[in-house]
Amino acid sequence: MSFCLMLSTMWMVSCSSLSDTRVTSPDGRISLSFTLDEHAGPVYQVDVEEHPFLLPSRLGFSDAEGHPLSEGFRIRDVDFSAVDENWTQPWGENKELRNCYNEMAVTLDNEAGIRLLLRFRLFDDGLGFRYEYDVPGVDSLLLTDELTTFALAEDGPSWSIPAHYDTYELLYRSMPVAEVETANTPMTFQVAGQYASIHEAALTDFPEMTLQRVTPGCFKAELAPWPDGIKARFAGGRFVTPWRTLQLAKEAVGLINSSLLLNLNEPCALSSADWIRPMKYVGIWWGMHLGIEGWAMGDRHGATTANALRHIDFAAANQIEAVMFEGWNKGWENWGGNQVFDYTQPYEDFDMEKIAAYAAEKGVQIIGHHETGGNIFNYEQQLDKAFEWYVAHGVHSVKTGYAGGLPLGCNHHGQFNVRHYRKVVQKAAEYHLTIDAHEPIKDTGIRRTYPNMMTREGARGMEWNAWSEGNPPSHHVLLPFTRLLAGPMDYTPGIFDILYERAKKSPLRKQWNMRDSKDCRVNTTLAKQIALWVILYSPLQMASDLIENYEGHPAFQFFRDFDADCDWSKAVAGEPGEYVAIVRRTGEKYFFGAATNEEARSMALNLDFLQPGKTYRAVVYADAPDADWETNPTAYAIREQSVTSTDVLDIRMARGGGQAITFLPVAETE
Ligand code: NOJ
Ligand code: CA
Repeated sequence: MSFCLMLSTMWMVSCSSLSDTRVTSPDGRISLSFTLDEHAGPVYQVDVEEHPFLLPSRLGFSDAEGHPLSEGFRIRDVDFSAVDENWTQPWGENKELRNCYNEMAVTLDNEAGIRLLLRFRLFDDGLGFRYEYDVPGVDSLLLTDELTTFALAEDGPSWSIPAHYDTYELLYRSMPVAEVETANTPMTFQVAGQYASIHEAALTDFPEMTLQRVTPGCFKAELAPWPDGIKARFAGGRFVTPWRTLQLAKEAVGLINSSLLLNLNEPCALSSADWIRPMKYVGIWWGMHLGIEGWAMGDRHGATTANALRHIDFAAANQIEAVMFEGWNKGWENWGGNQVFDYTQPYEDFDMEKIAAYAAEKGVQIIGHHETGGNIFNYEQQLDKAFEWYVAHGVHSVKTGYAGGLPLGCNHHGQFNVRHYRKVVQKAAEYHLTIDAHEPIKDTGIRRTYPNMMTREGARGMEWNAWSEGNPPSHHVLLPFTRLLAGPMDYTPGIFDILYERAKKSPLRKQWNMRDSKDCRVNTTLAKQIALWVILYSPLQMASDLIENYEGHPAFQFFRDFDADCDWSKAVAGEPGEYVAIVRRTGEKYFFGAATNEEARSMALNLDFLQPGKTYRAVVYADAPDADWETNPTAYAIREQSVTSTDVLDIRMARGGGQAITFLPVAETE
């Protein structure tokens, strides 16, 4: 009999002893019970609306020395507490948040003197629990396994990517929970009448957690290992794990509107955050992925002084706060080789002094770029110098990258690199620099503690459309229900030249990847690209196309009006992999984005989110009636109308399409 099934049978006999180790969410909808099982040790179970949601599921760890980290425990103390507080963050989907939960802290110990505090927190939108261990008399601990399981009570549809310790840039799968063998988190699913997502919060000094099937529908935490197979190592005998989280909602969009992950992170650790600002940006970037420009200095070099100045001019003329340049520093000729980049040596044709002075004169910020190629030692050695150099040139934000293998056989998502990613964020904070990490560790909400950790990649972004089969239309309506539950994503939306007509005509085009260029394209309509600026939340939001594709384009007005510094957000409708509709507010302006998968669809948008009694000019960026992502992707229509909060709009989306709307208060615009 499988472990999960065995436990559920045993549960029938032991559940009567649980009355005092049960905690419920403030609204009483979710309840979690803890018990010590004679065979399995610490065990928890979750019910939602009085129906089993997680069957009895195991808790604990094992280590290399055989310390009893899950055996022989007795309950020493059970403490109940409650918190209900409001807090604000310097930026985010919502600047004002409520943290309201009931906590049950169970203290256990065993004959080996090991003390384990299990902290369970139940919110109306889900739960989290973490382990706080004290192992006496040891100099170090080597964890070999995490025993936590999530035994789902029923089967149902699920949406996830497979577990992988080096990349999240994988295609999503929609499949029954029972068929999932491994998954990376967030793994989202719909079972027992609820939408839910398993993930983790506050990943600080630990490997990432992935999910491994034990039996169909029962998953075990599988941690990304060190090269020697050890999962986590600590000096001394005390360690605190990240929170294991389960978000829960009646409707799928409830998961997007949840702030559970942020609530489970520590408050801001920075003495001030007023130097951190969301920004829109353009950059010298897409040309490299299309093959018409290159990172290294040579005939196609993208990051030249002239090109940088042109981008600064474009940003200044289009209300875009920042520009980002890749391929500016020496070392790109080593990319894929010894990966030795120099972070303070620009190429000879990139005059940083001149560019920085020009950007300052035009009031445009420069977002720096540090590709490491995975050479962590080379990067860490230069980190202080590299940050100092950027700050000296007026740069306050850096995009980092880890495209390449790590040293010593370490993987990207294990404890070694979690420590590195955290070190970069902390060091950047010392220099008042913000970070946009590509090939990052997954987001677990640490932006609450370090708001300079602004955005990251961590899923298949736009780049995949340049040199692979691309991201299918369903991808963008899966991301909000999976990857983006974890936090912002630097997807870099906004390609207007959907079929790469300009690039394909260029004699400079060379493929740096295996794919035949004629197959590559963006698999959406143009209106959907605009909508993705709203849907795929990022406090650093890029208009990723070649700037010449925006020059004179009427639809670019959306990005000019758009503000990345939003105050409030709400996902109003959607189903994973099918469609999604999100509205955000910045000051008095509202931005709406809706997108669909391969199916055309329409939906009614109730404007009751607008301020009552005010009139707004709605500028609608829609798919043209004959638009279709496959056959007619660039057909769009812009129309304007006057609206109030009592209106309902009919949102029509083509196959693979979308719609975006700006709502500008009339008094402000006339
Ligand atoms: C992968 C990143 O995701 C992409 O944005 C970047 O252009 C390349 N690495 C080169 O750094
Ligand atoms: Ca990438």
